[in-house]
Order: sequence, then structure tokens, then C-alpha cells
Amino acid sequence: MYKSVPTLTDFILQEERKIKNATGSFTILLTQIENAAKIINSHIRASGLADILGKTGTTNVYQEEVQKLDKFCNDLLVNTLSTSGQVYAIISEELEKPHMVKEYKGEYIVALDPLDGSSGIDSNSVLGTIFSIYHKKGGVLQQGKNQVAAGYIVYGASTMFVYTFGRDVNGFTLDPAIGSFLLSHENIRMPEYAKTYATNEGNSLEFDEELNSYLSKIKKEGYKLRYSGCLVAETHRIVMQGGIFLYPATSKLPSGKLRLLLEVNPIAFLVEQAGGVSYAVDSSPLSIAPKSISDRSPFCFGGKKNMEELI
Ligand code: AHG
Ligand code: MN
Ligand code: MN
Repeated sequence: MYKSVPTLTDFILQEERKIKNATGSFTILLTQIENAAKIINSHIRASGLADILGKTGTTNVYQEEVQKLDKFCNDLLVNTLSTSGQVYAIISEELEKPHMVKEYKGEYIVALDPLDGSSGIDSNSVLGTIFSIYHKKGGVLQQGKNQVAAGYIVYGASTMFVYTFGRDVNGFTLDPAIGSFLLSHENIRMPEYAKTYATNEGNSLEFDEELNSYLSKIKKEGYKLRYSGCLVAETHRIVMQGGIFLYPATSKLPSGKLRLLLEVNPIAFLVEQAGGVSYAVDSSPLSIAPKSISDRSPFCFGGKKNMEELI
């Protein structure tokens, strides 16, 4: 017999009903992100066909001009969110300045990494999208702890939408047959300890001594290295199976590589809601006051016990 499973839309509606005086605008906003994620998913799944099916190499299977996938994802999300009526401003990795939506009186600011892990497109690797939502009243440069919601979509063996409203983390898996995200992982809790670490150890000559001695220590303890170069893929694995992620300051990149508003804060917010711990320089990145939309920050996160050991 068919078992009825809540869809992402059912779930968001249910959550919004719990909030007194809710207007439904948040539901519309998240539903628009969900819709864009489905379109991005279908383009990613067909990206390898672009060369063999595109007639001239300049049009893709959808008869659209071939664009870099990063730009396609950005334009789609920015257009969808700008016309949703719910958004005041959009910050994106692909935009130099915040995109202010003047046509509507939206209440929310959305920060986006439209396509994460994009260097892996040509090798058919796991990709992601990261989003983060704030109320407009604090402006575009807010501390991560003010996030109203944050999450990611991981385009892996299956496509999953994982997000938090600031309490609990829930995961939804796309059922390609019906085109809906179905609740598959309710109230995700991160394992407190696991012996895996994720870092670009090719940079270890640029790490500080303390970090290198920590890495030597955990290797002696039998930790396994898992690193794909896609923050969303790393995050999803660690949220599900535990372990630790590090993108530290290096001698070449004194602020690390990852972008505070677009990558670090949404992941830190979600990880903390799942029971994990995140760390920038000497505390959680969520209390850093950003100075610009392109700020970067060293970042590490992991299960509670792993992080206690590291810190
Ligand atoms: P993006 O594809 O959005 O530019 O992000 C890539 C990021 C992140 O996903 C990953 O954690 C990191 O870059 C990997 O960097 P290295 O190649 O330096 O390890
Ligand atoms: Mn990224
Ligand atoms: Mn990106």
C-alpha cells in the first residue's frame, strides 16, 4: 500500500502554522528555493549531455544558450527570488554587490552560494547549493546568529534538501518519479564523535604548527581522510556520519578561503542545530560581525566530542 510521506511543502506549511501571526510569506520564499533547486537538479543531471546533444555546442538540451552552470544557477535563483515578492535583497557569490529588489516590499535577505563545488562539474562530482535567510531589519551585513533559516541542497547519488528554521534540522529526498522532496531524515542529530577528518592537506605546508601536530596526532589514532573539495558534500557526510571539517587560515590565505556570509555561516548555523560545534578563529563564526559581503573566515566544524578534542 502507498505510504503517504510529508513533502517539503507540507512540512514548511506545518512549521509556519506553528508561528503566531505568520503571513505565509516564509512558505512562499522556501517554496521558491525548492522550485529553483529542482530546476538546477535537472540541469546538473543533464550537464554531461550538453556536448553530445547540443546542436552546435552553443545550445543545450533545453535549446538555451550554453552558460556556465554557476551562472545559470545564480541567474535562476536571483530571478526566482526577485519575483517572489518576499525578498528585499540577495547576496550571491556570483554578484559583486547585493541585488536590491525594488519592485516589492519583501521582508527577507537571502544569501546564496548558487553552485558549490563547481570545480567538480566536469568530473561528475557531487555539487551543492547553499542558502541563508535573514530578516531585512538588520541590513545585509548581519551576524550569522540572526539567520532565520539556512540550508543546503546536495546533488549527489540522490538529491537532498536539508534545512533548519533555527531549531531541528530536517532532510528531504527528491523522488524523481513525482518531482517532490519527501521527508526522509527527520530531526537529524550529528554523531558526537567519528574518526574521519576533511581538509585540503595539500596546503599543510601553509598550516600553523599546532594544526599540523593535531593532524599528526589524529592520524596516529587511525583517523581516515575524506575530502572532495565540495563543502556541501563534506557537510552532508559529517552531519550524517560524524567527523571533522577544517578550512583553516593558511600562510597564503590568512582569512581562510570560505566566504563568511555565503558558506561558513549557513553551514555553522545548521551544524549547531544538529548538535555539532563550529569554530572560526576563537569562537563560533555566528558571532562575527561581517564588514563586507566578501569577507572570508577560517572555519572548522564537527561532532561535539571531535571539536572538544580539537579546541
Ligand atoms: P565554490 O565551488 O562555490 O567556489 O566553492 C568551493 C569551496 C568549497 O566548496 C570547498 O570546501 C573549498 O572551496 C575547496 O577548496 P580547496 O580546493 O582549496 O580545497
Ligand atoms: Mn562554495
Ligand atoms: Mn559557488
